[in-house]
Amino acid sequence: MRIPELIRRKRDGESLGEREIEELITAYVRGEVPDYQMAAFLMAVYFRGMTEEETAALTRAMVRSGEQADLRTVGGVTVDKHSTGGVGDTTTLVLLPLAASAGVRVAKMSGRGLGFTGGTLDKLAAIPGFRTELSVAEFTAQIRRIGLAVTGQSPALVPADGRLYALRDVTATVESIPLIASSVMSKKIAAGADKIVLDVKVGRGALIRDRDRAEELGRLMVQIARRAGREATVFLTDMDQPLGLAVGNALEVAEAIRTLQGRGHPALVELCLELGAEMMRLAGVEADPDRAKEILLKKLESGEALEKFREWVRAQGGDERIVDDPSRLPAAPFVQAIQSDVDVYIRDVDALRLGRCAAKLGAGRQRKGDAVDPSVGIVMGGRVGDRIERGRPVAVVHAASREDLSAAVEEVRQAVSLSREKVPGRPAVIARIAGVDTFGR
Ligand code: URA
Ligand code: CA
Repeated sequence: MRIPELIRRKRDGESLGEREIEELITAYVRGEVPDYQMAAFLMAVYFRGMTEEETAALTRAMVRSGEQADLRTVGGVTVDKHSTGGVGDTTTLVLLPLAASAGVRVAKMSGRGLGFTGGTLDKLAAIPGFRTELSVAEFTAQIRRIGLAVTGQSPALVPADGRLYALRDVTATVESIPLIASSVMSKKIAAGADKIVLDVKVGRGALIRDRDRAEELGRLMVQIARRAGREATVFLTDMDQPLGLAVGNALEVAEAIRTLQGRGHPALVELCLELGAEMMRLAGVEADPDRAKEILLKKLESGEALEKFREWVRAQGGDERIVDDPSRLPAAPFVQAIQSDVDVYIRDVDALRLGRCAAKLGAGRQRKGDAVDPSVGIVMGGRVGDRIERGRPVAVVHAASREDLSAAVEEVRQAVSLSREKVPGRPAVIARIAGVDTFGR
């Protein structure tokens, strides 16, 4: 196989065959194709795209580059949940114990946050003692025993993605729909769950800002899952403003606990109910979405979802006392509230600016391998459309130093705009893409 010829054909907009794609990925992972050739290939894909067949072939080749987790020992139907990444996306911490308390078996392999987006593993690592790396045996045994487990993606799964993603990151080729779809789906397929709920974020704080492109990505991922014998449902959800109120690792754990206690922001609750109802349908627990949501609401009200969270923290070695006493979570030394001296409505919150601000405070990492500070971040007083009473905080900044604090307070002021007039709220869930019958473009 001549690599320059493959690059040229993709550059000129031709489609490549399954064998060609497989050979390219295999050779790359073996170190037989240098990064400069792969970089040129990725840029050609960025501009020319890939057909659904090519993307499915790329996904399969990536899956075959490593091991695949075997979840058959769990028994029953396993469900995974994945988000394409956003700002203050606390969903997993609430949704997983909630769905598990309703009888869903949740098997999630998760990544760390990069840039302005947060990662679930970093949030869980804010819980003292919490183990984010489980062996496959521990992972499956825990799902059997308590109905859920979350672990870092094993490096043995999809080694091709680790290398390709690092190369995309430094060659401006991350934002390509077939490359995102194959990256996400290869990991989900290798991680082994039968059913997959995908939360595709759209807006300023997401990888994809444009609703039509997000929909294209969503449809493509559902098809790739189907071709791999898995069932996936995609939700397009709003990431123009942060989700819920908290942005930052320990702050989001505290937000998750409040939400599981029935005191969460309605937008975060609504998203968890929508995704949870779909997980119940996919798991064969409850097919009717309205009834599923009723069951989930009861699990929140009865405290069973919170108890499942406690059980989960304990199972992974975390300090379960944080559930009743969140002050045991890491706390930042410098805290300042931004107040309004009149009653106001929140008109806009720029998720990207807020995410960058939280990352600069230390909640995120600029490079893979950087450490994060679990304690820092921002807690908003509300979402767009919420009213903030005079003297109540519009936002509270948690920082590691006085300098960080004053810089962040200024940035948060610029990221948030307020209005004296009433402003309509915006829903978190934009659309749902499920099953083959919703296709046909
Ligand atoms: N998340 C991934 O895992 N891969 C991408 O390419 C983008 C988001
Ligand atoms: Ca949040």
